[in-house]
Amino acid sequence: MKKHNFSAGPSILPQEVFQEAAESLVNYNNSGLSILEISHRSQMFIDIMDEAVALVKKLLVLPDNYHPIFLSGGATSQFYMTAMNFLNEDETAAYIDTGVWSVKAIKDGGLYGNIVQAASSEDENYAYIPKSINVTAEAKYLHLTTNNTIYGTQFHEIPTVDIPIVADMSSDIFSRKLDIEKYGVIYAGAQKNTGAAGTTLVIIREDMLKMVKRELPVMLKYENHIKKNSALNTPPVFPIYVSLLNLRWLDRFGGVEAIRKLNEAKAALIYQEIDRNSLFIGNVKTEDRSIMNATFNLKDQSLTADFLAACDAADIVGIKGHRLSGGFRASMYNALKLENVQALVDVMAQFEADRN
Ligand SMILES: Cc1ncc(COP(=O)(O)O)c(C=O)c1O
Repeated sequence: MKKHNFSAGPSILPQEVFQEAAESLVNYNNSGLSILEISHRSQMFIDIMDEAVALVKKLLVLPDNYHPIFLSGGATSQFYMTAMNFLNEDETAAYIDTGVWSVKAIKDGGLYGNIVQAASSEDENYAYIPKSINVTAEAKYLHLTTNNTIYGTQFHEIPTVDIPIVADMSSDIFSRKLDIEKYGVIYAGAQKNTGAAGTTLVIIREDMLKMVKRELPVMLKYENHIKKNSALNTPPVFPIYVSLLNLRWLDRFGGVEAIRKLNEAKAALIYQEIDRNSLFIGNVKTEDRSIMNATFNLKDQSLTADFLAACDAADIVGIKGHRLSGGFRASMYNALKLENVQALVDVMAQFEADRN
């Protein structure tokens, strides 16, 4: 029986994507070849890449001066690649600190230029999104993490600044519409809303490509990947193909606006239960709650093991919170259905009823 998978990533994808991906491992598109043995220079793969890029552009409504590329190395590699490509040594960039992933971006970014903190929510263990942002005049870009996977906070309003925003969108890309003009660069590890672990989607506005003077290794220069259609070297063929299958699914679903409605319905369902149920409490400030990752805890934490056992008995997996945030985390990425969230809500309600 298929489990209700609330994992934070790698995470659930639509069942039909798993099915199609599985078939391609044995016989890709009736070619008599597995997807794993086709050349990345073959027309078959060129078609996969072209369609994946076209779907990213369509779903996110990207103007022509934005270039989507599929890289490897995870979102973590983008923490240094962005600074290497956009910040000269004597220049400054502003970063918003909303938790572990931002801190890592700040640390690696600082190897290549001067980083100033534009805002931070560290004072309350990242349980909210800072509202007042202080961007110094000399900053070349503003880096932020749109959705904070570990803590369960999300920017519902992206700050308006007069410099390009460089956004780590790993855990909420394709979940809602974008105000694309605000962004110079967007990056996201694929293993949540895009596809399979092993590739990272990076979207770059053309004017960002000329920002630095330094020499870069061939693989670390974005411009080279754009020129070679993400096939500068052997790309992660299978994760890119899984991303294509998933983006096709999202397109059939009705795109990001249709999925936003579903995501909001799922989030409303779980947060209503967290607020209604006398045993539970939400971890973060109500107005900053993420629609992708709901974090919550038991008021009486001695019941934790019992609650996890109740979830396990109901085929609910991936609910244990990150060690830095504690408690529980329900990740509700695009492919998770309302009925999956209902299954969790039912367990929470039953858990309360059993103790009254
Ligand atoms: C917001 C965010 N940024 C970055 C990362 C790191 O991604 P990767 O493992 O692809 O390097 C994660 C991983 O979960 C994340 O949630």
